[in-house]
Amino acid sequence: MKTADRLNSVKEYYFSKKLREIEELKKQGIEVVNAGIGSPDLAPHNSVIQELHQQSKKEGAHKYQSYKGIPELRSAFSLWYKKYFNCNLNPESEILPLMGSKEGIMHISLAFLNKSDEVLIPDPGYPTYAAAARMAEANVLKYDLKEDNNWLPCLSSIEKNNLEKVKIMWVNYPHMPTGSTANDKDLIDIVKFGKKHNILICNDNPYAFILNKDQKSILQFRNESAEILELNSLSKSHNMAGWRIGMLAGNRNLIDSVLNVKSNMDSGMFFAVQKAAVKALSLDEKWYSSINEIYNKRRSLVWKIMDVLNAKYDKNAKGMFVWAKINTNNSLEFTDNILNKHAVFITPGDIFGENGVGYIRMSLCCDELILKEILKRIIK
Ligand SMILES: Cc1ncc(COP(=O)(O)O)c(C=O)c1O
Repeated sequence: MKTADRLNSVKEYYFSKKLREIEELKKQGIEVVNAGIGSPDLAPHNSVIQELHQQSKKEGAHKYQSYKGIPELRSAFSLWYKKYFNCNLNPESEILPLMGSKEGIMHISLAFLNKSDEVLIPDPGYPTYAAAARMAEANVLKYDLKEDNNWLPCLSSIEKNNLEKVKIMWVNYPHMPTGSTANDKDLIDIVKFGKKHNILICNDNPYAFILNKDQKSILQFRNESAEILELNSLSKSHNMAGWRIGMLAGNRNLIDSVLNVKSNMDSGMFFAVQKAAVKALSLDEKWYSSINEIYNKRRSLVWKIMDVLNAKYDKNAKGMFVWAKINTNNSLEFTDNILNKHAVFITPGDIFGENGVGYIRMSLCCDELILKEILKRIIK
């Protein structure tokens, strides 16, 4: 059967292909260590797991659930945003729980993009923004993020393009893969830029709590423009990546448009998962410090590995990865060599865009024993 034309514009996700390759090596008896993927290996808080268990025994727990989530979950997200991001969000109309933020990227794209519209996408950046735009038959307009500009968009150079067809601009601070952050002024400038050019600004914010003490939301600047959305997620902040819990926040009309898409695509999130998410969102600051203590120790080991690889990194970077510059432009060959020689998988920066060429990314989702093993293999 001939596939739809839209599939010609998207490739299989790099990690999906690479994991197959790693599985092949494992079948040959090679013990590959995977330091490439940002899937938290730590468990959620025990009370969250218990809540899932308890709630799954409740009457009605196994029925379809509301498309916009149970009211307690929307309230819990609203309180979380008030407490940590200093944002007031109406739980009734300005929050939409999602099954992870990745689906939100697709839903937003389907809700706002027509064929041939354009989307501004960060380079380097999370590959899903471009894939979702292309699946919605829109055109991708990459904008450069460069190390010498702290991986922030240079709005005056973006403005040199004809922006008439641009509908959405994706931003993601703290930024994946570089770990850079945007301060208030940076975010306000981005919001004003969106308003000036009639572009919907979408900030994807799943790394706000990882090795970062200063949570920021673009929704803090809603007074500057109504056309902003923010995605967030419990995948990284609460070690719940496989549970698929995220959220979208913004003005009612934007949320309603996304709900229009979403309600035609799924039939609500499992009740017990929603109740467990409420529990997770109510954890206090100790939860975040406990995971960050672990990531901090791991990061020191990753820095040592990077030193051995002669790769340069920024010690102030936030998030779940260490992003480092290597002294060759062929990061794909560099990481393949490490895989073939040392059976260690590290992500080449290229997969995040042209500006990722010459960089590598290591994940902090490996325990210290694994990182010490990587260090040993690489030194050898
Ligand atoms: C920048 C970014 N956005 C979104 C996601 C997806 O997260 P979720 O698990 O909430 O779908 C990821 C996952 O790695 C990510 O790195």
